[in-house]
Amino acid sequence: MKGKLLRILRWVLIILVCALIVAQFHRPAKTNPASDPTQAVESRLQLPPPVAATLDRSCYDCHSNKTRWPWYSHVAPVSWLLVSDVNEGRANMNLSEWGKYPKSEADALLKRICLEVKSGGMPLAVYKPLHPSAKLSADDVNALCAWTETERARMATP
Ligand code: HEC
Repeated sequence: MKGKLLRILRWVLIILVCALIVAQFHRPAKTNPASDPTQAVESRLQLPPPVAATLDRSCYDCHSNKTRWPWYSHVAPVSWLLVSDVNEGRANMNLSEWGKYPKSEADALLKRICLEVKSGGMPLAVYKPLHPSAKLSADDVNALCAWTETERARMATP
């Protein structure tokens, strides 16, 4: 009875290891597309240095074309989840391509940035344990929100 169980376990283990090896061959593209620096948020908006630093540290990995891909982003199946988070993040808001947003969308995004960081929705929960430095302090959140308000007011004045 015990021998049979061990034999089954051994096969399960072998199959799992094979599946993991095969999985490595499926590599979704980890891209950092080249983009025109004049379209980036820092060229389009007035970005105080502390806010620029916060965006870089906590948001750029998913919301810019300057993603820092960690070593585990090359290991399936983690890589699949990571690439899809980055693609989805960029699709929702790409700070490297800020210039492409019409005024109304830029305004809505600025409003969302403050809402997301205030509610703790961003940076994404899965990201935080592996990036302790991305955590936002109350001061970081206040500075981000003050910045979004200033920029929204600036856009509203013709
Ligand atoms: C680990 C990846 C990741 C990080 C880091 C991250 N985001 Fe996101 N973000 C996403 C994804 C994925 C979505 C889209 C799905 C969702 O809303 O949950 C998103 C959505 C958003 C949206 C909504 C856009 C819309 O169209 O409504 C805003 C705003 C946003 N993020 C701001 C931020 C800010 C600000 C930071 C940094 C403080 C940040 N995010 C960090 C992945 C990330």
